[in-house]
Amino acid sequence: MKKILTLLLSAGLVATATQAVSSPEEDLEKFRIYYEQRFPGVQLDDFGNGPYALDVNKRLQWESMEEFPPYEDYVDKGREIWETPFKNGKSFASCFGKDPSKVRVKYPHWDSKTQQVVTLEGDINKCLKENGEKPFGWKKGKIAHLGAFLGYEARGQRINVVIPDDPKALEAYEEGKHFYYAKRGQLNLACADCHVQYPGHRVRGQLLSTGLGQTTHFPVFRAKWQKAAANGDGMGTLHRRYGGCNGQVRARPFKAQSRQYRNLEFFHTYMSNGLEINAPGYRE
Ligand code: HEC
Repeated sequence: MKKILTLLLSAGLVATATQAVSSPEEDLEKFRIYYEQRFPGVQLDDFGNGPYALDVNKRLQWESMEEFPPYEDYVDKGREIWETPFKNGKSFASCFGKDPSKVRVKYPHWDSKTQQVVTLEGDINKCLKENGEKPFGWKKGKIAHLGAFLGYEARGQRINVVIPDDPKALEAYEEGKHFYYAKRGQLNLACADCHVQYPGHRVRGQLLSTGLGQTTHFPVFRAKWQKAAANGDGMGTLHRRYGGCNGQVRARPFKAQSRQYRNLEFFHTYMSNGLEINAPGYRE
């Protein structure tokens, strides 16, 4: 415990009673420097490749997987969803604009009108409802296919989450940050315990990725999800993954698109500002 605390303190990410709460900009700088010092051989953008940035053998396996990536079909399905008109004759372009490459980089963002964090998935379902269509499920299927297409179109652009100077936006950011560092579940572990303290180490045979770069490639196609799906569809959203990681420590997951997970996504994605979007990704 002492070791974890020392590490987090050295990363500047635990506010002590005597310390003023740090600004998002300060958090971001410390977060990034922490990983860069810990993994000096890893290029900034490569952190977006998760465990494959940290282990040569895993990387080789992954690179051969990427030659015929299993997410490709779902990018095509997503394109079809984007292009297919609604019953009223309009399409997703009426909500998101004509150019699909300009969508993904806008999310997540703070909406000053509704005073909450808006995600891409949230706006996809909002668009469907406003046009009299049935909303998609939140964690997999069509929402992940459309997300894969929009992510693919946005490849190469850089994450650019803006935390406006609005107390409510900062509150949402702080809630997300707190979520990341709070212990939970029967195992009493925080996201940060695994992804700040132990990246590069193995947990039950899996190599832990760094918190930096963890959102750049969502939605992902996971071999594990593929196995579990009757139709072989291994695509899933970021909030599906959050739920899985909460479950790993035997904590009750929150609902996908709950305020808690949206605020977590706000903080978590902001921490990867400046990294390249490389969605969709492939993971084990
Ligand atoms: C017990 C350790 C543990 C804890 C605690 C944990 N995770 Fe994970 N997480 C893993 C493992 C193992 C994986 C799969 C290997 C990897 O990519 O790190 C993973 C993967 C992920 C991924 C996918 C990374 C990628 O490259 O696709 C995300 C995102 C993630 N975790 C977020 C979180 C968040 C947010 C929390 C807190 C709610 C959390 N994790 C808590 C163990 C943990």
